[in-house]
Amino acid sequence: MMSERNIKIAPSILAADAANLGAELKRIEDAGADYVHIDVMDGHFVPNMGFSPDITKMLRKTTEMVFDVHLMISEPMKYIKTFSDAGADIITIHHEAMENPEEGIDYIHSLGKKAGISVKPGTDVSVVAPYIEKLDLLLVMTVEPGFGGQTYMEAMNEKIAKARQMIDNCGKEIDLEVDGGVTAKNIDMPAKSGANVMVAGSAVFKAEDIPAVIAEMRIAAK
Ligand code: DX5
Ligand code: ZN
Repeated sequence: MMSERNIKIAPSILAADAANLGAELKRIEDAGADYVHIDVMDGHFVPNMGFSPDITKMLRKTTEMVFDVHLMISEPMKYIKTFSDAGADIITIHHEAMENPEEGIDYIHSLGKKAGISVKPGTDVSVVAPYIEKLDLLLVMTVEPGFGGQTYMEAMNEKIAKARQMIDNCGKEIDLEVDGGVTAKNIDMPAKSGANVMVAGSAVFKAEDIPAVIAEMRIAAK
């Protein structure tokens, strides 16, 4: 069955050639990617380090693409403004990192940015129910956050479907994003489950022919 959903592909630059990030962004822009996914990690919320506000700001000067900033950090409230100033368009924080996630969402909105909440594989998506209508994006992690190149957790398909149901029930247009291990071979799973924004790091940047992979992903997600 053909899906009516408009699928967006969001390459994660964690898998890009870090010594040539400007050129890497140009490659995915030319290849028709929709968002650039920027992974921010603090070595505390996750056992790895990621992109900084300064790098985000420098990259902002090189492209008009939508910056989808994924904050995998313990105290997001401290850095939301910094990333907003650096040029983020969408700022996603983790439910698990917030005592009061709504406060984070309101803060992001007060800066004129789109707000996302992410849930780790072990977190039930129903935790977002109390504030779902405030969201612009809901990110269901399909790997444990921290590293690129992991395997897509098929057990998350059910959670994606539940998230889709929650979004449809609330009636607001909210992006349902998946992140981790997505490839052209398995993208049909999150797509069928109801996701419409597909983050893909390794599958895009390690490919010989990026436009071909992105096109293949769009076809497989239909
Ligand atoms: C994982 C990051 C992902 C990661 C995805 O912690 O949030 O965005 O870069 O990379 P792949 O597609 O290689 O799993
Ligand atoms: Zn991410």
